[in-house]
Amino acid sequence: YARDTGLTHEEWRAALDFLNRSAAISNASRSEFTLLSDVLGLSSLVDLLAASPGATEGSVLGPFHSRGSPWVESGASLIKGNPGEPVLLRGRVTDTQGVPIPAATVDFWQNADNGLYWQLDSSQPQDNLRCQLRVRPDATFELMVIRPRPYMVPTDGPIGDLLRVSHRDAWRPAHYHVIVEAPGYRTLVTEIFDAEDPYVAQDAVFGVRDSLVADFKPGDDPAVREKYQLAGAYRVVDCPVKLAPAS
Ligand code: BEZ
Ligand code: FE
Repeated sequence: YARDTGLTHEEWRAALDFLNRSAAISNASRSEFTLLSDVLGLSSLVDLLAASPGATEGSVLGPFHSRGSPWVESGASLIKGNPGEPVLLRGRVTDTQGVPIPAATVDFWQNADNGLYWQLDSSQPQDNLRCQLRVRPDATFELMVIRPRPYMVPTDGPIGDLLRVSHRDAWRPAHYHVIVEAPGYRTLVTEIFDAEDPYVAQDAVFGVRDSLVADFKPGDDPAVREKYQLAGAYRVVDCPVKLAPAS
Protein backbone atom coordinates (compact mmCIF):
# COMPACT_ATOMS: atom_id res chain seq x y z
CA TYR A 1 0.00 0.00 0.00
CA ALA A 2 2.85 2.39 0.91
CA ARG A 3 4.55 1.68 -2.43
CA ASP A 4 1.30 1.99 -4.44
CA THR A 5 0.35 5.29 -2.84
CA GLY A 6 3.83 6.77 -2.39
CA LEU A 7 3.09 7.17 1.31
CA THR A 8 4.84 10.23 2.77
CA HIS A 9 6.36 10.56 6.24
CA GLU A 10 3.58 12.96 7.16
CA GLU A 11 0.84 10.52 6.08
CA TRP A 12 2.61 7.61 7.79
CA ARG A 13 2.85 9.59 11.06
CA ALA A 14 -0.84 10.58 10.79
CA ALA A 15 -1.80 6.92 10.30
CA LEU A 16 0.22 5.85 13.36
CA ASP A 17 -1.33 8.67 15.35
CA PHE A 18 -4.80 7.47 14.26
CA LEU A 19 -4.03 3.93 15.45
CA ASN A 20 -2.50 5.16 18.72
CA ARG A 21 -5.54 7.34 19.42
CA SER A 22 -7.82 4.37 18.60
CA ALA A 23 -5.97 2.27 21.17
CA ALA A 24 -6.02 5.04 23.78
CA ILE A 25 -9.81 5.51 23.65
CA SER A 26 -10.55 1.75 23.74
CA ASN A 27 -11.35 -0.09 26.96
CA ALA A 28 -13.17 -3.23 28.12
CA SER A 29 -16.53 -1.90 26.89
CA ARG A 30 -15.40 0.12 23.87
CA SER A 31 -13.31 -1.05 20.94
CA GLU A 32 -12.47 1.70 18.48
CA PHE A 33 -10.88 -0.98 16.26
CA THR A 34 -14.15 -2.91 16.00
CA LEU A 35 -15.87 0.36 15.14
CA LEU A 36 -13.18 0.98 12.51
CA SER A 37 -13.90 -2.43 10.98
CA ASP A 38 -17.65 -1.60 11.08
CA VAL A 39 -17.43 1.84 9.40
CA LEU A 40 -14.99 0.57 6.75
CA GLY A 41 -17.53 -2.12 5.84
CA LEU A 42 -15.08 -4.89 6.75
CA SER A 43 -17.39 -6.40 9.39
CA SER A 44 -20.21 -6.54 6.85
CA LEU A 45 -17.92 -7.97 4.16
CA VAL A 46 -16.93 -10.80 6.53
CA ASP A 47 -20.65 -11.41 7.23
CA LEU A 48 -21.39 -11.53 3.49
CA LEU A 49 -18.48 -13.90 2.81
CA ALA A 50 -19.82 -16.25 5.50
CA ALA A 51 -23.38 -16.21 4.11
CA SER A 52 -25.17 -19.56 3.67
CA PRO A 53 -27.44 -19.92 0.63
CA GLY A 54 -31.12 -20.03 1.62
CA ALA A 55 -30.51 -18.92 5.22
CA THR A 56 -31.49 -15.57 6.72
CA GLU A 57 -28.75 -13.03 6.03
CA GLY A 58 -26.42 -11.98 8.84
CA SER A 59 -25.57 -8.46 9.93
CA VAL A 60 -23.26 -6.69 12.38
CA LEU A 61 -23.23 -7.65 16.05
CA GLY A 62 -22.45 -4.12 17.24
CA PRO A 63 -20.99 -3.18 20.62
CA PHE A 64 -24.13 -3.48 22.74
CA HIS A 65 -24.49 -7.23 23.03
CA SER A 66 -23.34 -9.03 26.11
CA ARG A 67 -24.05 -12.57 27.16
CA GLY A 68 -26.49 -13.30 29.94
CA SER A 69 -29.69 -11.39 29.10
CA PRO A 70 -32.66 -12.35 31.31
CA TRP A 71 -34.65 -15.37 30.10
CA VAL A 72 -38.33 -14.73 29.34
CA GLU A 73 -41.16 -16.83 27.92
CA SER A 74 -42.19 -16.31 24.32
CA GLY A 75 -45.13 -13.91 24.52
CA ALA A 76 -43.46 -11.67 27.14
CA SER A 77 -43.56 -7.89 27.03
CA LEU A 78 -40.31 -5.94 27.37
CA ILE A 79 -42.11 -2.61 27.40
CA LYS A 80 -42.42 -2.29 31.20
CA GLY A 81 -42.11 1.49 31.76
CA ASN A 82 -40.63 2.31 28.35
CA PRO A 83 -42.16 5.11 26.29
CA GLY A 84 -42.41 4.47 22.55
CA GLU A 85 -44.68 2.84 20.01
CA PRO A 86 -45.51 -0.78 20.97
CA VAL A 87 -44.44 -3.40 18.41
CA LEU A 88 -45.42 -7.07 18.32
CA LEU A 89 -42.33 -8.86 16.97
CA ARG A 90 -43.15 -12.38 15.89
CA GLY A 91 -41.42 -15.09 13.93
CA ARG A 92 -40.70 -18.74 13.38
CA VAL A 93 -37.33 -20.48 13.23
CA THR A 94 -36.94 -23.07 10.49
CA ASP A 95 -34.18 -24.69 8.47
CA THR A 96 -33.57 -23.60 4.88
CA GLN A 97 -36.26 -26.09 3.72
CA GLY A 98 -38.87 -24.58 6.06
CA VAL A 99 -38.77 -27.39 8.64
CA PRO A 100 -39.44 -25.91 12.14
CA ILE A 101 -36.56 -25.97 14.69
CA PRO A 102 -38.23 -26.18 18.14
CA ALA A 103 -34.83 -26.28 19.93
CA ALA A 104 -33.95 -22.74 18.80
CA THR A 105 -33.23 -19.87 21.17
CA VAL A 106 -33.45 -16.15 20.41
CA ASP A 107 -31.29 -13.47 22.04
CA PHE A 108 -32.85 -10.01 21.47
CA TRP A 109 -31.73 -6.42 22.19
CA GLN A 110 -32.73 -2.95 21.04
CA ASN A 111 -32.33 0.71 21.96
CA ALA A 112 -34.82 2.75 23.97
CA ASP A 113 -37.08 5.52 22.69
CA ASN A 114 -34.32 8.10 23.40
CA GLY A 115 -32.02 6.22 20.98
CA LEU A 116 -29.75 4.85 23.72
CA TYR A 117 -28.97 1.29 24.77
CA TRP A 118 -29.32 0.69 28.50
CA GLN A 119 -25.53 0.37 29.00
CA LEU A 120 -25.01 4.03 28.05
CA ASP A 121 -27.99 5.52 29.88
CA SER A 122 -28.18 5.56 33.67
CA SER A 123 -31.89 6.51 33.50
CA GLN A 124 -32.72 3.01 32.17
CA PRO A 125 -32.96 -0.06 34.40
CA GLN A 126 -30.31 -2.75 33.97
CA ASP A 127 -31.10 -5.13 31.07
CA ASN A 128 -33.77 -2.78 29.69
CA LEU A 129 -35.15 -4.02 26.34
CA ARG A 130 -33.07 -7.16 26.09
CA CYS A 131 -33.88 -10.84 26.70
CA GLN A 132 -33.37 -14.44 25.67
CA LEU A 133 -36.16 -16.91 24.96
CA ARG A 134 -36.77 -20.48 23.84
CA VAL A 135 -39.11 -20.76 20.86
CA ARG A 136 -42.42 -22.55 21.37
CA PRO A 137 -42.82 -26.25 20.41
CA ASP A 138 -44.01 -25.12 16.94
CA ALA A 139 -40.80 -23.00 16.65
CA THR A 140 -42.69 -19.70 16.76
CA PHE A 141 -41.85 -16.80 19.05
CA GLU A 142 -43.45 -13.51 19.96
CA LEU A 143 -42.31 -10.47 21.96
CA MET A 144 -43.95 -7.12 22.71
CA VAL A 145 -41.23 -4.49 22.29
CA ILE A 146 -41.04 -0.85 21.18
CA ARG A 147 -40.21 0.72 17.86
CA PRO A 148 -36.44 1.17 17.69
CA ARG A 149 -34.82 4.54 16.98
CA PRO A 150 -32.02 5.62 14.65
CA TYR A 151 -28.73 5.94 16.50
CA MET A 152 -25.33 7.56 15.91
CA VAL A 153 -22.13 5.53 16.22
CA PRO A 154 -19.70 7.18 18.67
CA THR A 155 -17.98 10.17 17.02
CA ASP A 156 -15.88 11.41 19.96
CA GLY A 157 -12.82 9.36 18.91
CA PRO A 158 -10.69 8.90 15.78
CA ILE A 159 -13.57 7.17 13.94
CA GLY A 160 -15.55 10.39 14.32
CA ASP A 161 -12.64 12.20 12.60
CA LEU A 162 -12.60 9.58 9.85
CA LEU A 163 -16.34 10.00 9.21
CA ARG A 164 -16.05 13.80 9.21
CA VAL A 165 -13.13 14.01 6.77
CA SER A 166 -14.90 11.57 4.44
CA HIS A 167 -18.17 13.57 4.71
CA ARG A 168 -20.01 10.51 5.96
CA ASP A 169 -22.99 10.27 8.29
CA ALA A 170 -22.62 8.62 11.69
CA TRP A 171 -26.26 7.47 11.74
CA ARG A 172 -27.44 3.90 11.87
CA PRO A 173 -31.07 3.30 10.85
CA ALA A 174 -33.42 1.98 13.56
CA HIS A 175 -33.00 -1.76 14.09
CA TYR A 176 -33.51 -4.75 16.34
CA HIS A 177 -30.67 -7.17 17.02
CA VAL A 178 -31.17 -10.93 17.25
CA ILE A 179 -28.90 -13.93 17.68
CA VAL A 180 -30.65 -17.20 16.83
CA GLU A 181 -29.01 -20.46 17.90
CA ALA A 182 -29.94 -24.15 17.70
CA PRO A 183 -27.90 -27.35 18.10
CA GLY A 184 -26.70 -28.57 14.69
CA TYR A 185 -27.21 -25.18 12.99
CA ARG A 186 -24.98 -22.20 12.27
CA THR A 187 -25.56 -19.40 14.75
CA LEU A 188 -27.21 -16.42 13.08
CA VAL A 189 -26.27 -12.89 14.19
CA THR A 190 -28.50 -10.41 12.44
CA GLU A 191 -30.64 -7.27 12.56
CA ILE A 192 -34.14 -6.23 11.51
CA PHE A 193 -34.48 -2.72 10.08
CA ASP A 194 -37.44 -0.35 9.97
CA ALA A 195 -38.41 0.24 6.32
CA GLU A 196 -39.67 3.75 7.17
CA ASP A 197 -36.40 4.89 8.76
CA PRO A 198 -34.82 7.91 7.01
CA TYR A 199 -31.32 6.37 7.26
CA VAL A 200 -32.17 2.90 5.94
CA ALA A 201 -30.22 3.51 2.69
CA GLN A 202 -27.11 4.98 4.36
CA ASP A 203 -26.18 2.91 7.39
CA ALA A 204 -22.80 4.08 8.78
CA VAL A 205 -21.75 0.44 9.25
CA PHE A 206 -23.26 -1.08 6.05
CA GLY A 207 -25.46 -3.55 8.00
CA VAL A 208 -28.65 -3.17 5.95
CA ARG A 209 -29.61 -5.97 3.54
CA ASP A 210 -32.85 -5.71 1.54
CA SER A 211 -34.07 -8.99 3.03
CA LEU A 212 -33.65 -7.61 6.58
CA VAL A 213 -35.82 -4.52 6.04
CA ALA A 214 -39.25 -5.04 7.61
CA ASP A 215 -42.57 -3.23 7.36
CA PHE A 216 -43.89 -2.07 10.72
CA LYS A 217 -47.53 -2.88 9.91
CA PRO A 218 -50.40 -1.36 11.89
CA GLY A 219 -51.91 -3.99 14.23
CA ASP A 220 -55.61 -4.06 15.05
CA ASP A 221 -56.24 -7.27 17.01
CA PRO A 222 -58.24 -6.55 20.21
CA ALA A 223 -56.91 -9.81 21.73
CA VAL A 224 -53.33 -8.49 21.38
CA ARG A 225 -54.31 -5.17 22.99
CA GLU A 226 -55.97 -7.07 25.82
CA LYS A 227 -53.09 -9.54 26.32
CA TYR A 228 -50.42 -6.83 26.47
CA GLN A 229 -52.66 -4.20 28.11
CA LEU A 230 -52.12 -1.69 25.31
CA ALA A 231 -54.19 1.47 25.50
CA GLY A 232 -53.74 2.46 21.86
CA ALA A 233 -52.24 1.59 18.52
CA TYR A 234 -49.45 -0.91 17.99
CA ARG A 235 -47.36 -2.25 15.09
CA VAL A 236 -46.58 -5.78 13.92
CA VAL A 237 -43.24 -6.98 12.54
CA ASP A 238 -42.87 -10.45 11.04
CA CYS A 239 -39.42 -11.96 11.39
CA PRO A 240 -39.15 -15.41 9.79
CA VAL A 241 -35.73 -16.93 10.51
CA LYS A 242 -34.04 -19.61 8.43
CA LEU A 243 -30.93 -21.31 9.84
CA ALA A 244 -28.28 -23.13 7.81
CA PRO A 245 -26.93 -26.53 8.94
CA ALA A 246 -23.71 -26.34 10.96
CA SER A 247 -21.75 -28.36 8.41
C1 BEZ B 1 -25.26 -0.71 16.90
O1 BEZ B 1 -25.90 -1.63 16.43
O2 BEZ B 1 -25.77 -0.01 17.75
C2 BEZ B 1 -23.86 -0.42 16.41
C3 BEZ B 1 -23.27 -1.28 15.49
C4 BEZ B 1 -21.98 -1.01 15.05
C5 BEZ B 1 -21.30 0.08 15.55
C6 BEZ B 1 -21.91 0.93 16.48
C7 BEZ B 1 -23.20 0.67 16.91
FE1 FE C 1 -27.66 -1.57 17.48
